[in-house]
Amino acid sequence: MTPQLLAGKRGVIFGALDDQSIAWQIADVCAEMGAKFTLTNAPVAMRFGTISELAEKHGCEVIPADATSIEDMENLFQKSEEILGGKLDFVCHAIGMSLNVRKGRPYTDIKHEWMLKTFDISAVSFHKMCQVLFKGDHMADHGSILGLTYIASQRTFPDYSEMAESKALLESFARSFGYHFGEKNGVRVNTVSQSPTMTTAGKGVKGFKEFFGYADKMSPLGNAPARDCANYCATLFSDYTRFVTMQNLFHDGGFSNMGMSPKLIEQTADEE
Ligand code: NAI
Repeated sequence: MTPQLLAGKRGVIFGALDDQSIAWQIADVCAEMGAKFTLTNAPVAMRFGTISELAEKHGCEVIPADATSIEDMENLFQKSEEILGGKLDFVCHAIGMSLNVRKGRPYTDIKHEWMLKTFDISAVSFHKMCQVLFKGDHMADHGSILGLTYIASQRTFPDYSEMAESKALLESFARSFGYHFGEKNGVRVNTVSQSPTMTTAGKGVKGFKEFFGYADKMSPLGNAPARDCANYCATLFSDYTRFVTMQNLFHDGGFSNMGMSPKLIEQTADEE
């Protein structure tokens, strides 16, 4: 029996596109742990993805919202409160998209209008989301807000391109809003830095498959699967982490603290 860590909690989950999405797994785990939630994604994702199947599975509503639109987010949180019957205990931002990566532009020849759009979708949307939640007083006392990030915010992973700066910005927004929300009503704001994961967003990065294998060997525990990421996120929505805030928390099988891996050295030696 799954522990009912989230019994009675109300939430909003952004970013489930299909069953590969990390947000999909988060929704599954939250439902199993007793939470009620609404799902949201960009209106365009309703056509390409399978979010309605997820909603049907858990008997919850989908409220389309472009995370770069303040108006859409105001509507989303107001409707979510009405549907769920009260303020929100948790909100999960699992959104990322890079126009330059998608269109194959190298980092040294980026289109800067696209870069700004990437920042808006992948990072500024987190600030917009927090601001709408803050001003509309939508978060319950001691609630939890979470964003998903990647270690390229702090170390150079050349093919991650402008998403690296997006993630650095996202992590910084989470720290700064963590202060304001903590002072307001004890709400926590954190980011979880996840291992490479085979999703639509992940696979869009050049050389992702090879890198996935490299990271798996570099991490003593191996790459963390999406389902385990979801379990970790659920602990951060629960009352067992009420004093964890303003943190970037690694969920990466140990990758971020490795210097060299004998397994990779052996492989390189074998190839020579
Ligand atoms: P995904 O492609 O399944 O999810 C990305 C989501 O962002 C999609 O559902 C997409 O529709 C949504 N989105 C894009 N533009 C939007 C907009 N304007 N408004 C609202 N939603 C929008 O991929 P994944 O991997 O599950 O991504 C979730 C989060 O996890 C992202 O923040 C990603 O950067 C992060 N992450 C992913 C890793 C990976 O290797 N896949 C590793 C570490 C972090």
